[in-house]
Amino acid sequence: MRSLTTFKIGGATKYYFEPANQEELGESLIFAKKKKLKIYCIGSGSNVLADDKGLKGAVIRLNNKNFKNFKFQEAKLVAQAGCLLSSLIGQAGIRNLSGLEYFTGIPGTLGGALVMNAGIREKNIGDLVEDVTIMDYNGSIKTLKKSEIGFGYRSSRLSGVVVLGATLKLKKSSAAKINEIREKLIAARKKSQDWSWPSAGCIFKNPPGESAGKLIDLCGLKGKRVGGAQVSLKHANFIVNKGNATSRDVLRLINIIKNAVNRKFKVKLESEIKIWR
Ligand code: EPU
Repeated sequence: MRSLTTFKIGGATKYYFEPANQEELGESLIFAKKKKLKIYCIGSGSNVLADDKGLKGAVIRLNNKNFKNFKFQEAKLVAQAGCLLSSLIGQAGIRNLSGLEYFTGIPGTLGGALVMNAGIREKNIGDLVEDVTIMDYNGSIKTLKKSEIGFGYRSSRLSGVVVLGATLKLKKSSAAKINEIREKLIAARKKSQDWSWPSAGCIFKNPPGESAGKLIDLCGLKGKRVGGAQVSLKHANFIVNKGNATSRDVLRLINIIKNAVNRKFKVKLESEIKIWR
């Protein structure tokens, strides 16, 4: 899992599938079900902390080109789950279509972004969704309307299925307006976020009306280190892997942070990242 996650942490996985197409994906899921394996669907591994001891289940990654197609139909984008969000943002920009530029700088695939309803403070990817096509763990394909997906803050009902793709509604705009938003977001990220070390982005969800980063910072935890894991000196909601961090190091640091924030502010922080064991 170390090579599959942006955190660069995690042991070996018992089963790893990169299906070549939807049929093979279905076969992999049926195999996993027969063996009663836990299924871990991974995109580009940007929001995952995997156990050092490895995973006993089946990791499935839609990395084949057959899961990375997209097409524009006027102002709609129909894209498969394996597409990188960054490349879809670029493709929409070329066509002067607005909506996706707000997610500039968010790492990951479209599938991963939809499952966690990735976004920024004001906008989430779910806002753009018309429908999402999924495969359930029995291999059946279904298209869900937005209203069936239950998009919430960094959450959706898509975590127990494999996302195959989605239709996103974009709007005609101008290159100048789209680029202005993209440049502002890139500058803000460069200024406040720590991308110089491997990490999984923000570790905790923001509590209602608050910023997890600010609360952790106010506890004086910037720079706090357990083994190879450290609370970023730049943004306190980032834990960075300073080299050879283990999942144990990160989990211990997460506990220290949760306890400190709870003690000082009576706020229970909730993980944004997926912790896979
Ligand atoms: N702040 C501090 N100290 C810190 C970090 C932040 O005082 O160490 C303060 C900032 O000064 C600011 C406030 O906290 O006043 C909010 O910080 P920021 O603007 O960095 O936004 P955030 O709430 O920490 C959220 C998302 C980010 C997203 C940014 C930009 C969550 C958990 N985080 O961060 O998403 O990039 O807004 O819109 O929703 C992610 O999901 O992985 C992620 C990085």
